[in-house]
Amino acid sequence: MSDAATEQGRDRARVDAPLKVSGLAPYAYEHELEDPLFLVPVLSTVATGAITGIDAEAARAVPGVALVLTHENAPRLALPTIPTLAVLRKPRVRYRGEIVAAVVADSLETARYAASLVRVDYAAPPSGPDVRLDPEDPGVRPLRRVMGVYPGQHTVGDVDGELAGAAYRVEGHYATPVNHHNPIEPHSMVALWHADLGPLATVQPRSTRLTVWDSNQGVVAPQGVLAGAFGLLPTQVEVISPYVGGSFGTKGMPHPHVMVTAMAARKLPGRAVKVALTRPQMFAGTGYRPETRQRVALAADEQGRLRAVDHEVFAPVSRVIPWVDPTAGPSLSMYASPTRRVSYRAQHLDIGPGTFMRAPGEYTGMFALETAMDELAREMGMDPVELRLRNEPEADPESGRPWSSRHVATCLTEGARIFGLEQQQQPGGRREGEWLLGMGVASASFPQMGMGPSLARITFTGGRYVVSMQASDIGTGAWTVLAQIAAQALDVPQDQVEARIGTTDAPYAIIAGGSTGTFGWGSAVVEAAQAFRAEHGSDPAEGATTRARTRMPQGVRGVRRMAFGAHFAEVAVSEVSGEVRVRRLYGHFDGGRIMNPRTARSQLVGGMTMGLSGALFEESYRDPRFGHVVNADLAGYHVAAHADVVDIEVGWVGEPDPWMGATGAKGIGEVGIVGVPAAIGNAIFDATGLRLRELPFTPVKVLEAWESSGPAPAATVR
Ligand code: MOS
Repeated sequence: MSDAATEQGRDRARVDAPLKVSGLAPYAYEHELEDPLFLVPVLSTVATGAITGIDAEAARAVPGVALVLTHENAPRLALPTIPTLAVLRKPRVRYRGEIVAAVVADSLETARYAASLVRVDYAAPPSGPDVRLDPEDPGVRPLRRVMGVYPGQHTVGDVDGELAGAAYRVEGHYATPVNHHNPIEPHSMVALWHADLGPLATVQPRSTRLTVWDSNQGVVAPQGVLAGAFGLLPTQVEVISPYVGGSFGTKGMPHPHVMVTAMAARKLPGRAVKVALTRPQMFAGTGYRPETRQRVALAADEQGRLRAVDHEVFAPVSRVIPWVDPTAGPSLSMYASPTRRVSYRAQHLDIGPGTFMRAPGEYTGMFALETAMDELAREMGMDPVELRLRNEPEADPESGRPWSSRHVATCLTEGARIFGLEQQQQPGGRREGEWLLGMGVASASFPQMGMGPSLARITFTGGRYVVSMQASDIGTGAWTVLAQIAAQALDVPQDQVEARIGTTDAPYAIIAGGSTGTFGWGSAVVEAAQAFRAEHGSDPAEGATTRARTRMPQGVRGVRRMAFGAHFAEVAVSEVSGEVRVRRLYGHFDGGRIMNPRTARSQLVGGMTMGLSGALFEESYRDPRFGHVVNADLAGYHVAAHADVVDIEVGWVGEPDPWMGATGAKGIGEVGIVGVPAAIGNAIFDATGLRLRELPFTPVKVLEAWESSGPAPAATVR
């Protein structure tokens, strides 16, 4: 093979790294425009009710204030397809922290001060808002479908009969809290409504009316939403988002500040309007991972083969968008079992809607399922890896379709070997001073959904090949990997290829979401490269250009595609403080072909870090009286810091999946987080004998568990 032919799969530093470390990569808010204005939103202080009056006189009187926007003077827009975006339309509030007004001024300080002067009066129900989570509430309803595709109720076989007659049976109640994404770069945007275009408007009716620099997972979403709302053609809305400082799902779909900022720009043509949400504003109105309450029951025969998988999910949903994570997804596809039941119930509340957050559904559901599997292994006295191996399904248990590829067994056995998994027959026997030590394992999976085709264009110019598409690099390495894929397909060194992504001035591509970017976009790049060579040969003329789209193998609907993994954790639990320290984490993955070991490792380590953080720390407290998040900043909501993350390593199978298109790569953006909390919880059990079924595993939960389980090991050992 030539050097070029081995380009794919080769370790490559990020091509955007020099710009990022030198501070020269422009993030949305940093785009320099002449004489910008600054927008500060005013958020509702009630969770439901009517706005009876807005007094903006004092704010308007502040020198430097250009505009105070309320439902009274906001531009009338077409009804958006995303209901949260119907903002500043009516004098009403649907959740605590909804945007009810916005102030635009010539400095951020002035805007913030003037926003504090806007007085909003509400008529709120005297009983208060309905924001209290209660699985027994009479308004709780079963769901027929989840996210439009997953069954809300699904039963195969006599689950209750199997549970009643099983040789082994476990049942547990599990809980996961609200989590917020907390990317380092806040939601931010600059909107410029182009001043009267003059004769150009008639000569070029499609010319750009609105330019937006925005932080998102794909320019197509804000482009479509804004064009629809303002009655423009998509081509009249330009979105520029080359660099994004993290997202994890929260920037997948536009949030209300995008509409409000564009409305302000509409009223102030020719002036750039900038917004950057504060951390508390992000906690209020940019989505979150909803809390869950789950019940999982498993039945197994004498040999540890599952006879029943029973998974009930309860979740609160917003009345604005009934967002529910597909939490029971893992119970549909992870293990073979002759009987199976999945059911969801939801409670509608006066809260803002949840949204995608890294591995939505799998993260919460796998915590319950993989903890239950550990409980079953303990109940049987069976090795937890062996128990999982005995329940490997030949084909997808739900659909009966064959796997495109499934290397769970390798992930478990290779991972256990590399990590050195050794659990104790009797928990509590390993200690270092006050620290009890233990190890745990959990499996992970994440579906590989196609999100439709993307387009890629390759142009030869200035002696280089430019690959352009609307793809988005939210920290994943897409800038680098797409260029690598093109270089290999064109059979040229990578330095002759340049990616241009993150702008609407490029062919359409799906957003960076659902772990689909690398294989979906990558397939389009390979197709475009092959078409380019077919059309223009190996010595193309300046300006030669070709476009092509994602192509998946014929018959792909007949197979089930998933990424898999196994997570391993070693923990130390203080019998004095109840603190849990994660000493080591290892993950072994089936991610198809690995396109770039460096960026892949970074993705997986990032996912595992987030899993560690969710296992030990992250929890947003919604005040049950008022509906706001109480700990709405990074002081109150701890995200794992360097000191919390001691030793995380990853490995992989690396086997290309023939059903993933030309790259053979599976998506690895999400599978890295999935099994981590269960692996850590299972390690806590191995260390202490305490079974924790609620995230996060805080010192209080550990101490309470010790209290309710009798004397702590300290009392018995000393
Ligand atoms: Mo994501 S949670 O794939 O937007």
